[in-house]
Amino acid sequence: MSNSFDVIVIGGGPGGYVAAIRCAQLGLNTACIDEWQNDDGKPALGGTCLNVGCIPSKALLESSENFERIAHTFPAHGISVSGASIDIAAMQARKGKIVKTLTGGIEMLLKKNKVTRLHGHGRFVGNSDEGNWCVEVETEGKSEFLEARHVIVATGSAPRTLAVAPFDGERIVDNAGALSFQDVPAKLGIIGAGVIGLELGSVWRRLGAEVTVLDAGAAFLPAADEQVAAEALKQLTRQGLKIHTGVTISATKTSKKGVALEYATKDGTQVKETFDRLLVAAGRTPHTAGLGADRVGLKIDARGYIEADQHCRTNLPNVWAVGDVVRGAMLAHKASEEGVMVAERIAGQAGHVNYEAIPYVIYTAPEIAWVGKTEQELKQAGVAYNKGQFPFAANGRAHAMEETAGFVKFLADAQTDRLLGVHIVGPHASELIAEAVVALEFHAAAEDIARIVHAHPSLAESMHEAALGVAKRTIHI
Ligand code: FAD
Ligand code: NAI
Repeated sequence: MSNSFDVIVIGGGPGGYVAAIRCAQLGLNTACIDEWQNDDGKPALGGTCLNVGCIPSKALLESSENFERIAHTFPAHGISVSGASIDIAAMQARKGKIVKTLTGGIEMLLKKNKVTRLHGHGRFVGNSDEGNWCVEVETEGKSEFLEARHVIVATGSAPRTLAVAPFDGERIVDNAGALSFQDVPAKLGIIGAGVIGLELGSVWRRLGAEVTVLDAGAAFLPAADEQVAAEALKQLTRQGLKIHTGVTISATKTSKKGVALEYATKDGTQVKETFDRLLVAAGRTPHTAGLGADRVGLKIDARGYIEADQHCRTNLPNVWAVGDVVRGAMLAHKASEEGVMVAERIAGQAGHVNYEAIPYVIYTAPEIAWVGKTEQELKQAGVAYNKGQFPFAANGRAHAMEETAGFVKFLADAQTDRLLGVHIVGPHASELIAEAVVALEFHAAAEDIARIVHAHPSLAESMHEAALGVAKRTIHI
């Protein structure tokens, strides 16, 4: 193997592996360095997303939702099942198989595209005489040195640690730990009512855990549209998740029996509560440890992110950074699109990412999804808007599915009718949002969606009706 490349990508998650494939498609000689190793000691591509993030969490959400349906949805259909039980080992084995299939798939894709894949830790060591970047790859104490004209850093993020609740991998766990429980904790405590807390809290509650979610923030899901957040809180609470905001956690103590937690509620009441396990999901921090950033002068901001402009250029020539390690949403699709943009820019094309049209999805039941501006953001910015809203309770397909909670909300500019934001809380919101993303990307007006034929009966008719609602002409409410 020659040690000289056009592009070296450090990190093989959705930012890095997609960047590497796109570089190779564009004829660039590309290497991808990744250090991920699973508990079985085997290297695996796909980063956080495939190994301990998006994919395993969705596998468990699907299994647990199926289980919950037996008790809560089937009876309405006249189906009764007695003695239903869940085999956690089988559920975890299924999840493991999905992860293995998909991470193995990435390995094949890199091979197919002739990307040189190196397992190990990558770090900058300096410049060659020709002005190329020199990168060291370290595996089990052995080092190899590569050079390339361009380097794309895609080193991702790691769970944020809280001094008050340090991870021990047993009682106090991060996302990887909570995705791998081998039995259902009778009482699960969660610090952080964010995306991970709500998704994994839902999984274990559906399987029988008593789940309490504690969040320091004053508001529930502050990034979501306020009306959506209120509806989600109502539905999740109704299902049995105990969610407390405005909480201050002062101490944790682990023992053989569990984790004792001391916290003050919003109104100042001091509470002592013991949980079998505690998931800490209080955000994630960009991962730049051991990257050699100091050595080459790669700028990192006060919050630990690699500084990058809107095209993911860093302060160093021909060094780019994408995904969780740079500003913006920590989402797999955002990381991948940045990877594509950078590859195309290296190849002299004009790749770009429209940061205004990135969809957000929370895979609870009901699902939550949005794109564009929230109503509170528009109010704050003083933008005049019209609003169309349609409840799933008035949608035929939702009734057939026994999934009538939630609504779709369209927000459009009052003068031009241009769509500014779409917000959904309801069944298959993760799929429905795609229509809204296309609409925002194409600068559609609400009327454009209102004039499109939507199949009947379908959940998508709620999108149509909400679009009609912007001009106060919904048909079914
Ligand atoms: P990562 O996926 O973190 O990959 C970085 C890779 O770089 C890792 O393999 C790491 O080992 C490697 N690496 C780091 N430093 C080095 C180095 N110096 N040398 C070599 N290798 C290195 N996002 C969604 O869009 N949808 C979801 O449903 C979703 N669910 C999630 C659920 C959970 C529980 C979690 C934790 C996250 C979830 N996310 C989801 C977020 C998503 O996983 C991340 O946004 C995404 O993985 C970021 O991609 P990345 O390529 O930037 O980084
Ligand atoms: P998050 O940012 O979504 O939520 C963290 C929560 O923890 C916040 O509500 C915050 O107020 C709270 N918090 C912070 N410090 C606290 C403290 N000391 N005490 C109590 N509460 C505290 O982060 P989360 O859930 O850890 O997820 C990390 C990232 O992973 C997210 O930013 C998200 O982008 C990504 N992710 C995406 C998913 C998806 O797209 N469906 C699923 C899961 C994760």
